[in-house]
Amino acid sequence: MSDALKLAFSPFAAPARGVFVVFCDGGLKFGPATAKAIAPAAGLVARAAKAENFTGKSGAALELAVPEGLKVSRLVVIGAGDTKGLEQKDLLKLGGLAMGKLPVAAAEATVFAELPGGALKAGQAADLAQGIVLRAYAFDRYKTKRKDDEKPPARRNVTVAVGDVAAVRKAYAVNEAISGGVLLARDLVNEPANVLYPEEFARRAQALKKSGVAVEVLDLKALKKLGMNALLGVGQGSRRESRVVVMRWNGGKAGDAPVAFIGKGVCFDTGGISIKPANAMEDMKGDMAGAACVVGLLQALGARKAKVNAVGVIGLVENMPDGNAQRPGDIVTSMSGQTIEIINTDAEGRLVLGDVTWYTAKRFKPKFMVDLATLTGAIIVALGQEYAGMFANDDKLAERLTKAGEATGEKVWRMPLGPEFDKQIDSKFADMKNTGGSRWGGAITAAQFIKRFVDDKTPWAHLDIAGTAFDSRQTDINKSWASGWGVRLLDRLVKDYYEK
Ligand code: BES
Ligand code: MN
Ligand code: ZN
Repeated sequence: MSDALKLAFSPFAAPARGVFVVFCDGGLKFGPATAKAIAPAAGLVARAAKAENFTGKSGAALELAVPEGLKVSRLVVIGAGDTKGLEQKDLLKLGGLAMGKLPVAAAEATVFAELPGGALKAGQAADLAQGIVLRAYAFDRYKTKRKDDEKPPARRNVTVAVGDVAAVRKAYAVNEAISGGVLLARDLVNEPANVLYPEEFARRAQALKKSGVAVEVLDLKALKKLGMNALLGVGQGSRRESRVVVMRWNGGKAGDAPVAFIGKGVCFDTGGISIKPANAMEDMKGDMAGAACVVGLLQALGARKAKVNAVGVIGLVENMPDGNAQRPGDIVTSMSGQTIEIINTDAEGRLVLGDVTWYTAKRFKPKFMVDLATLTGAIIVALGQEYAGMFANDDKLAERLTKAGEATGEKVWRMPLGPEFDKQIDSKFADMKNTGGSRWGGAITAAQFIKRFVDDKTPWAHLDIAGTAFDSRQTDINKSWASGWGVRLLDRLVKDYYEK
């Protein structure tokens, strides 16, 4: 489990026990501290490299058990390939690879944060450490039985040896706040829906108060009074009550307009009366990943005391079929006053976001709004699991998100919007309907629907994260089902462009 990892920083010194992880470049070169620490086994390493055809290319690893001349139980050499122009995502990857090389039973490890050019800079070493933490996460709280060879130690001590310990500790404090947010988001997404229903989700969001974030929970009565009937319609077939949670972090100037993040929080999506087929329906416990990201982000901003005013608003519902469930053909009046004909009760996320987006704009008049939602299967067809789909009414915001995505590795790909798509959601009976006429371009018509709840003066971006939030291709920094996607991206967006 994630909290079983104990991370520490120390100066470079040859470790006396445990697993020893070092890095080399694509020319098999080591940094000076590394070369010194492995000197007694240098010949052995060279022979092993030759025998294994190990050339230090990025991601490759050479492993030596009980290396003669060293006190450690295992030496792992990880290739960093070309070490020029390493970005944050590359350092995270190296940290993830290092953690991944620890045998299940290993209780102690030392990782040298050094490349041939010398000790990593403080920020780089802190990113490496973050990669270790993200990779170490496992969601195993419901595992009560283990085979002997799968039993992890009660605690894992990983020491990262660095050049300037104090400087790295300082840089890492910021990263620790961010990884805390990522791991919180993963926990929320991994939790099953019998445990994490709207009220419980709201309770967990309340814990952000510890990080100085103000948390407000709107209950059924408040939501009815506001007229959020599009959101309430989705939840009305469930035994669990709907909630909206508003989180505020005020680290910027008093009176400065906030940046706003909005999340789809469908705690379980059966499809409702337009019920989904059984195959992989269990994945729909993750249909609250947008909301989880917003909670993780607000926790991170609070924990690292970001100099920004930020709000997070999440719509929490459960989409179930029962005698009180909403029907295809029903017409609801949204908070904006616009009416919506329900064609398909499985197109529920946009109904939730319509009301929450409208509410956020009216109440907070934000600098910009970014919403995150596991909104459509169509975006997975279009982009796969490597990129989230981005729809935006503002080029500057879109460009900033793209750049933040490239730096963090949480990439977004811009998709089109336009009147040709918008007219597909015109309805015979109401102002609009909740699905387009055809399956084609389904992610776009979904985005057009949300856009009808955004005024053109507020810069807005919608991120369809159906492909990236869970069940994604396992990466070097995540082996769990939920990825926690978006927390690092949006933290970076805030840090690079909106903090004073
Ligand atoms: N939550 C789903 C989308 C989804 C599918 C997310 C797979 C992650 C993985 C969403 O509510 C949904 O059901 N969308 C429908 C829309 C359709 C009815 C217009 C879809 O994508 O099929
Ligand atoms: Mn659905
Ligand atoms: Zn859904």
